[in-house]
Amino acid sequence: MQRFPDAPEYTGLNAPLGEEYEVPDLVIEGRIPDDVEGVFFRAVPDPAFSPFVEDAAAVLSGDGMISAIRIAGGKASFAIRYVQTERHKAEVAAGRALFGKYRNPFTDTPEAAGLDRSVANTTPVWHAGRLLMSKEDGRPYRVDPRTLETLGRHDFGGKLKSQTVTAHVRIDPETGELFFFGYEADGLASSKVAYGIVDRHGTLLREQWFDAPYCAMMHDFAITKNYALFPVYPTTCDVQRVRAGGDHWVHEMERDSWIGVMPRYGKVADMRWFRGRKGVSCYHMMNAFEDTEGRVHIDQCLSSVNAFPFIQRASGLDIPPGETGGRLERWSIDLRQDGDRLSESVIGPPGDFPVIPARAQGRPYAHAWMLTMNPQTQGPPVAGGPVGAMFNMLLRLDFTGKSPQALALPPRHCFNEPVHVPSVRAGHEGWLLTVVDRQIGPSAFEHALWVIDAGNVASGPVAKAVIPHRLRPQVHGWWAPAAELGGA
Ligand SMILES: [Fe+2]
Repeated sequence: MQRFPDAPEYTGLNAPLGEEYEVPDLVIEGRIPDDVEGVFFRAVPDPAFSPFVEDAAAVLSGDGMISAIRIAGGKASFAIRYVQTERHKAEVAAGRALFGKYRNPFTDTPEAAGLDRSVANTTPVWHAGRLLMSKEDGRPYRVDPRTLETLGRHDFGGKLKSQTVTAHVRIDPETGELFFFGYEADGLASSKVAYGIVDRHGTLLREQWFDAPYCAMMHDFAITKNYALFPVYPTTCDVQRVRAGGDHWVHEMERDSWIGVMPRYGKVADMRWFRGRKGVSCYHMMNAFEDTEGRVHIDQCLSSVNAFPFIQRASGLDIPPGETGGRLERWSIDLRQDGDRLSESVIGPPGDFPVIPARAQGRPYAHAWMLTMNPQTQGPPVAGGPVGAMFNMLLRLDFTGKSPQALALPPRHCFNEPVHVPSVRAGHEGWLLTVVDRQIGPSAFEHALWVIDAGNVASGPVAKAVIPHRLRPQVHGWWAPAAELGGA
């Protein structure tokens, strides 16, 4: 076992584990509903080798691990394996870290030259019978959904031109098409963005490139029935800084944010740019949709500054924890009007990890779920993840005027991002699956999968599956139904 630095990104919940294992039959408390049949795939970064450079952003560079919680007939099993990226294989062969700072190849060892730097640690994407492990700084790796064996880097049969595909794709619920984008598409600090459409059979139909207003961290985007929307917030990269061994990202409070809107089957030349507030930041969009008057709305887990403390420090910003000005904010655009104006309204509290039913993607929607901090919790939150604190409350938000519902965890518990599983019962809102961590000592934790009635989150879990092993924090997850997997 490696010795890791005594730093927050390597201690407590973030302590590296470095183990691949399977647990065939998890102990179940309660009863898993009959319509929960499939696999909950989870991206769980876990650094295999201790770093040789100091890197405040190291929490983003953990080697990707793919975990699968398989559920069938009311039973559940657990498995986790490393994604065999070029980087991971080279470091295993060398027996030590070869790659330096987050997205800075100028800090690498000579042995890393020419190798793919991506750790494929952000989202397991299930589409057209393929499981892809993605991270925004590279191309995805394809993984066998049954064995979790890595099959290699995926470039859509040689068709993909972009060097990057982000971890946040959008799948249209009617056409089954996958919409994706990649920024820094032709290399480090480039403002080139690729926008692609993959048909329901997994064939890359179209890839177009455009220039963003500047090179920015573009983590997520959104679609509606007719449009593709590309938000740009001023977390920026400068090639001179990176060449000098500096951080990839700093946040610029005095720079405008932008949102590019184009017909989703149109040409990038038809992109219109709308100007948002200066200095704001967002990692995840909840959804976007068009209303009956033809306006386009995009709902974002927005904050007044980039929420990652290490990016604030790299930017010379001194923001106290919990004072990043978070809120769920709707930006509305009237495409019938000239100019670059958009309107903003706050529609929900601070939070992140928004979840919508797959069928609501890009459409008007009445409710959604997200994680937040319970304002009434006594004591500190569980430390972990890139923000440094894990969420401890699950919300069901209602956009029709009804009150939100909340499920608050007891002290020393935290949520990982849930996935939504539709119900076969008409009128039932389905189920949320989430891994809940419980801290029982400075570096001791217990973990369980919770199954929650999505329409009645306040009543707590209907079932738990105990995971008898230490886990690191998950980034994103994906639900693949048994019917699409040919049986889980
Ligand atoms: Fe994300």
